[in-house]
Amino acid sequence: MGRILQATDHNLNLCKQALSNSKVIAVPTETVYGLAGNALDEVALEAIFKIKGRPLFNPLILHTDCLENAEKFATFNSLARQLAEKLWPGPLTIILPKKAIVPNLVTANLDSVAIRCPQHPIFLKLLRKLPFPLAAPSANPFGYVSPTSAEHVNNSLGDKLEFILDGADSEIGIESTIVDLRNSDEPKILRPGPISKEILEAKTRIEFKEPQTAQVSELRAPGMLKSHYSPKTSLEITSLDQLNDLIASDQGSRCAFIFQKRPEESIYPKSSCVYWLSENGSAKEIARNIYRVLRATDALNYEKMYIEAISDTEGLSVALKDRLSKAASK
Ligand code: TXA
Ligand code: MG
Repeated sequence: MGRILQATDHNLNLCKQALSNSKVIAVPTETVYGLAGNALDEVALEAIFKIKGRPLFNPLILHTDCLENAEKFATFNSLARQLAEKLWPGPLTIILPKKAIVPNLVTANLDSVAIRCPQHPIFLKLLRKLPFPLAAPSANPFGYVSPTSAEHVNNSLGDKLEFILDGADSEIGIESTIVDLRNSDEPKILRPGPISKEILEAKTRIEFKEPQTAQVSELRAPGMLKSHYSPKTSLEITSLDQLNDLIASDQGSRCAFIFQKRPEESIYPKSSCVYWLSENGSAKEIARNIYRVLRATDALNYEKMYIEAISDTEGLSVALKDRLSKAASK
């Protein structure tokens, strides 16, 4: 169980065989690794929820290889088609009215379905071999930090999985943007992500409503709930100044200090508990590293972790801020 497979033709056929037999495997995507099963097979769908420990009221994303196939599962309007044509394959998930063929387990009985056509070449190659779409949540135990490598998946779910298909480190590193396009006059961003509000608006010339903090009573996108993506160790967001002060006054406490950008070495000669999410502070690099660093520091059993706040308020930084505040709330 939990065998990590390289993406040879032989192994992709093994994955195809397992998926065709209602098994669940982990797959690489450009955002984060997914826990994938046949989206039209209730046995596979139940297994996904069970392995992840995810409540059944939390719907899954359906992954297909192209717009043409996606149209078999959801009713597209022209805005959705336009965005899919411009941004698929890629890290954009679109919510649309579902077609009857999609099992209620995928959508948690909602009349809408979340669909995405992923960009990762190995995942795409696998999807093209299959006569069915794949339902896939992120391949982490419910509520924990998403995985961005085969090893991450193996660490937390390896013993429960048939295979883990290796596709190297996820290029983007945070989950897809989710947009609700059911009403094309009022498109909404439900989960900020790699495709920013600015990109969406430039592609369509329509205003997209910003994500709202989810009401607990409205479980539309539980990825929007505050406590999500959290490490086990308590995590506190601080300003850069506060972080520097904490390190300066640190007397060998068991705390980790995480910077957005590599700090000057000369300033922190004494602390081995200093980490950073990027060399140069770029949002892209931070996104690629954020879950890896959170997982790695979480595994070291610190009493507490402090992380520097994201200061930018545009583009990809909106999604980074969102993930960080979710990781820090218990
Ligand atoms: O990048 C990603 O999107 C990754 C990779 C594996 O594709 N997947 C992912 O799935 O992040 P998951 O299950 O961790 O998050 C999907 C989110 C959930 O918050 C779920 O509630 C929301 O999508 N969702 C799914 N169907 C929905 C629907 N019909 N209406 C509103 N939200 C929906
Ligand atoms: Mg998730």
